[in-house]
Amino acid sequence: MDINPLQDSFQRAMNLSRSPGAVSTSPTQSFMNTLPRRLSVSKQQKALKPFSTGDMRILLLENVNQTAVDIFKDQGYQVEFYKSSLPEEELIEKIKDVHAIGIRSKTKLTANILKHAKNLVVIGCFCIGTNQVDLDYAASIGVAVFNSPFSNSRSVAELVIAEIISLARQLGDRSIELHTGTWNKVSQKCWEVRGKTLGVVGYGHIGSQLSVLAESMGMHVLYYDIVTIMALGTAKQVSTLDELLNKSDFVTLHVPETPETKNLLSAPQFAAMKDGAYVINASRGTVVDIPSLIQAMKAGKIAGAALDVYPNEPAKNGADAFSDKLNNWTSELVSLPNVILTPHIGGSTEEAQSAIGIEVAHALSKYINEGISVGSVNFPEVSLRSLDLDQENTVRVLYIHKNVPGVLKTVNNILSNHNIEKQFSDSCGEIAYLMADISDVNQSDIKQIYDELDKTSSKISIRLLY
Ligand SMILES: NC(=O)c1ccc[n+]([C@@H]2O[C@H](COP(=O)([O-])OP(=O)(O)OC[C@H]3O[C@@H](n4cnc5c(N)ncnc54)[C@H](O)[C@@H]3O)[C@@H](O)[C@H]2O)c1
Repeated sequence: MDINPLQDSFQRAMNLSRSPGAVSTSPTQSFMNTLPRRLSVSKQQKALKPFSTGDMRILLLENVNQTAVDIFKDQGYQVEFYKSSLPEEELIEKIKDVHAIGIRSKTKLTANILKHAKNLVVIGCFCIGTNQVDLDYAASIGVAVFNSPFSNSRSVAELVIAEIISLARQLGDRSIELHTGTWNKVSQKCWEVRGKTLGVVGYGHIGSQLSVLAESMGMHVLYYDIVTIMALGTAKQVSTLDELLNKSDFVTLHVPETPETKNLLSAPQFAAMKDGAYVINASRGTVVDIPSLIQAMKAGKIAGAALDVYPNEPAKNGADAFSDKLNNWTSELVSLPNVILTPHIGGSTEEAQSAIGIEVAHALSKYINEGISVGSVNFPEVSLRSLDLDQENTVRVLYIHKNVPGVLKTVNNILSNHNIEKQFSDSCGEIAYLMADISDVNQSDIKQIYDELDKTSSKISIRLLY
């Protein structure tokens, strides 16, 4: 199959004048900051011109946040915006022409749909998950996929803070009682959180945010993580999960879903916890063995639990969606006192949606304009520092290819008439990505380089930015 996503735009680019050398306002990726810098950061950078930005077509579905729409429009791209997802046939029609598509969780980008996307360069998942996209197929046709895994960390941390206090004061139960007319003013087994110990399992983006917030309420924070991480504030890392469980009044889970974290809290771990401790899980549903939690609560070992995630979750909102049909312990769980159940809303805030819009739109713009794939979920992560304004005749070659021996030799041979100023190549499974900045290139060279690269047998897609 001849995959050449930007050929039409490229052909138009052949007739366009060079970029006037506007100053790039794209944020510098943190990864870039780790690279050695030849030039001072204040030096003006050249905006690369892949093609006329007005020709760049972006399809945004599922009411992607306005922050993203604004960023794409500022870039000069053509934006087609829909509040909902599209029926499959309509999506196939639309995806034929666009260079980028932005979706959330409802739009399924299967191989069957993606095979119609002849100009597609990049997919933005304006959400956390990416399992709605056939990532391998996208990579095989040279389409990078980006998401936003960490924009909602603060929202989750704040929800957990609310749950710590709610569990300690049995707020869920008091509220349900009063909704049904029962006045039940009690103080027994209701506690302040000041001076209590919070045990954080997984000290990543969410766990560490939470640590700071909890300390500001006067809590002591212990954390357990499989890697050694510098503590924030006066939090302390412990070396075993058991140590954390023995010492914590509240245990909150912030680990990814992996084979190692499946049932990370089960009967032996509940037994190791302090009597009357509380459990909070806003990570992934498989991390807590819920039947064992139910038993530990019934035995009085655990005084309360807040769960935001479940092994099986309903596909859509609606009455009766959360029932024994989905998870056979549901009715037992909902009948327990001091159990707060929320429908996976940890990261669901307006602020998080807006941050997701900004993060994904910047990642897509950076990939479209400069070829930088850092943060992509299905692609080799490649980056080069930006070109400077005075690098007049420099071209950035973006060559996505099959990960087979001998490709670099062939490509460098094609580029060998020019000075390769810098080059970066990486692979991910069967896909590899080469980025090279070559100097002293004139307009006719660009066409020749493109044509020669296009003939290479391992080519998946090519873009030349200048
Ligand atoms: N409820 C929600 O709406 C919501 C929203 C966002 C994220 N999440 C979930 O929260 C969890 C944490 O997210 P994050 O952004 O903080 O992730 P992160 O990758 O930043 O941090 C995870 C931490 O867990 C540690 N870890 C991994 N395996 C471990 C193990 N076996 N024992 C102890 N520590 C381990 C890692 O070293 C890392 O420090 C993820 O599962 C994510 O899917 C839920």
